[in-house]
Amino acid sequence: MRTIEKIKQEIKALGAEYAKIKSLAPEERKAFGESLNQKRQVLDRELQEALDAAEASTVEPLDVTAPAAANANIREVKRGTKHPLMTELNHILDIYAKMGFDIMEARQLDDEFHMFESLNFPEGHPARDGYDTFRTEEGFIPPAHTSTMQHRALKAHKKDLKNGGQIAVVIPGRVFRNEDVDATHEHTFYQCEGIFVSKDATMGQMLGVLKRLFEEYYGQTLKIKTQPGYFPFTEPSLELLIEKPQSLGGKGDGWLEMLGCGMIHPNVLKMAGIDPDAYKGFAWGGGIDRLAILKYGIDDIRYFESGKLDFLKEF
Ligand code: DAH
Repeated sequence: MRTIEKIKQEIKALGAEYAKIKSLAPEERKAFGESLNQKRQVLDRELQEALDAAEASTVEPLDVTAPAAANANIREVKRGTKHPLMTELNHILDIYAKMGFDIMEARQLDDEFHMFESLNFPEGHPARDGYDTFRTEEGFIPPAHTSTMQHRALKAHKKDLKNGGQIAVVIPGRVFRNEDVDATHEHTFYQCEGIFVSKDATMGQMLGVLKRLFEEYYGQTLKIKTQPGYFPFTEPSLELLIEKPQSLGGKGDGWLEMLGCGMIHPNVLKMAGIDPDAYKGFAWGGGIDRLAILKYGIDDIRYFESGKLDFLKEF
């Protein structure tokens, strides 16, 4: 095969031939031009083949069976990791699954009925304002809490109540609030909702489930206590506090507010087609981000949604 240089020279020389066309008689020009074009095509093809051959001989052979790091042109292997919130959420769902709860997924766009009416907030109820809801132009609501799933979960699992059975479901989901953001408040975060219904569900059972959840999550025995709360969808409503865990530097001092809970309001059961005279239920809901922050001593909740790789890589 001729060298690349040689072929390039021939192409240049051929270029000079084209200038001769002008000096030919008009009837000779066509045939002459066509023969030059043919020669040019042959030379172009030869040049391309020569270039390809030269390139192939300079590419380092790649051993596709070698581990990635052994190949000289792959210097560093960066592995992705699970987002820390997903790790925490999976841990929490595992704890619930061991206690016998089913898992149902929440949605990221909901409506007025599931956000309010189905939860016993009549129209114009002042507690509606407490939720700082976003609304889309079409009137949908990105859920401000996972409680928007209560009505669906109750309806979907109503059949579990047959023959003395019970409803036991947890529902993790992403929630959105139109509020000012600071180190302890995000507009987007994760919550997990829990629902239990049976012929004779009691507040004592609820506190047992929640105590177990926090003890398993923090890996130690913990004291819990409640204080009165208010939610239209529970009666009575409570806020649950846990003793500050030792892992967070707690020495039997200090209480942390972890979630809202209570006995499901009869209207909420009724709207889902469950007879409140025959069945009782309890429900609870709280933030996942907050649990994780407390576990790891993170000082700014905004890191989770920030996409900061330096932060995420630490988990
Ligand atoms: N959805 C409430 C909130 O985000 C928390 C809550 C309170 C959930 C009481 C419940 C409940 O299921 O029973 O503020």
